[in-house]
Amino acid sequence: MKIVVLNGSPKGPVSVTMQYVNYIARKFPEHEFKIFHVAQKIHGLEKDPERFMEIVEEVRSAEGVLWAFPLYILLVSSQYKRFIELISERGASEAFRGRYAAALSTSINFYDTTAHAYIHGICDDLGMKFLGSYSAHMQDLLKPDERMRLELFAQELFAGIKEKANPPRLYQTLNYNPIPYRASAPRRHVSTNGKRVVILSDAQPHQTNLLNMIQRLKSILKGNVEVFNLHDLDIRGGCLGCLRCGSDNRCVYTGKDGFIDFYNSTLKKADVIVFAGAIVDRQLSWKWRQFFDRSFFNCHTPSLIGKQFAFLISGPLSRLPEMRLVYEAWVEIQQSNLAAFLSDETENTSDLENSLYSLAGRLIRQCEAGYIRPRTFLSVGGMKVFRDDIWAGLRIIFRADHKAYKRMGIYDFPQKKIGKRILMSLAWLITGLPGIRRRFQDVMKKQMLKPYEKILQNAGRVS
Ligand SMILES: Cc1cc2nc3c(=O)[nH]c(=O)nc-3n(C[C@H](O)[C@H](O)[C@H](O)COP(=O)(O)O)c2cc1C
Repeated sequence: MKIVVLNGSPKGPVSVTMQYVNYIARKFPEHEFKIFHVAQKIHGLEKDPERFMEIVEEVRSAEGVLWAFPLYILLVSSQYKRFIELISERGASEAFRGRYAAALSTSINFYDTTAHAYIHGICDDLGMKFLGSYSAHMQDLLKPDERMRLELFAQELFAGIKEKANPPRLYQTLNYNPIPYRASAPRRHVSTNGKRVVILSDAQPHQTNLLNMIQRLKSILKGNVEVFNLHDLDIRGGCLGCLRCGSDNRCVYTGKDGFIDFYNSTLKKADVIVFAGAIVDRQLSWKWRQFFDRSFFNCHTPSLIGKQFAFLISGPLSRLPEMRLVYEAWVEIQQSNLAAFLSDETENTSDLENSLYSLAGRLIRQCEAGYIRPRTFLSVGGMKVFRDDIWAGLRIIFRADHKAYKRMGIYDFPQKKIGKRILMSLAWLITGLPGIRRRFQDVMKKQMLKPYEKILQNAGRVS
């Protein structure tokens, strides 16, 4: 059978992900694999619709499509996102309808699930028959058990196609009928109290709801508020995945465009940052994704620490929990605060305007109070993935991260606390003795609360 592989790595054939595809192709020589490096060739595909349509025709005549991609900032690369957007922009969706699909990614398993959810949702929207996802750690292919697992996945994919499986749709169609919003001059204002506010968007002239939401928020805030559009910034291209930044955070684009300067001199110096965008398919646009990918020159080290963030969204945000998760996690990883998401899904103009007013107030209040939400699994778990992988081997490439992690105390391995380790070993032995263990279990609940007693006493009297 013919399988079309859509490669999402900007590195084209010199990609880790492609080695997994090559492995499958060698193991199953009876099938034909046609690989298209769509992320690497995105500029050509944008400029030359015929070349784009040649790939679409290959999809039409294939039995299956394999979406093969690396994880880029909790999702797919901006170049891949652009390719996906082109499918509907150029009216090519119908060539994908009814085709079997599967997704294969490589990564360090940091939010691989959000990327897979996105691709699965796209396949459902395109009317494809989605047969499964495979998320490999980038080094899995080096291990015999993992190679076997990959073969089984491929086998199952071919079996599904052969038996004409009919998998159910997992992600529902997105219905989105927003109120047309026209911003008027606000009567109530919020002073920025000297805080520096930056609103960054990718708004296009036809996205009037988004433009008007930005306009309204800007006019509510009285003080230092700057608005930038990603389309106007000097950004020469997407992240190439070259990893040159790994050693000293110096991006290959340094001196070639204005992105790094904008990031360092505008965003890093802001107190409040509002990201504004319209949903294109199931995510922010490729332009926004380019922003996130290019921010990778900071590698795995938080670079926008202690800020207030908000997301102003035009689109069906409430129906896209996976999309919200991407940005909740991203902000938390930055050690910053996500004040709110706000979309134009409200019932009427006055609700939206009230929400914009509340948002402005909350952003400035929380900024002044220095409030950062407590960490959740999103960053507690996420940072452990980074910490362990950088420590275990990636520090050879990501030298800058290694130095920063030491400096910032991100290497918080419990194993390092020798005193605690000795204490725990002793406690382990003692509480393992049957008599003591029983008594320990009896008092355990109360003992667990002991450390809190003093804190509560000092907190004041209960009236
Ligand atoms: C810009 C950039 C962003 C990345 N973001 C993530 C991420 O969010 N999660 C993850 O697990 N790995 C991430 N990675 C690691 C890659 O997904 C991983 O190295 C992958 O195997 C690269 O595949 P490729 O060689 O096919 O491009 C990122 C790498 C780059 C260069």
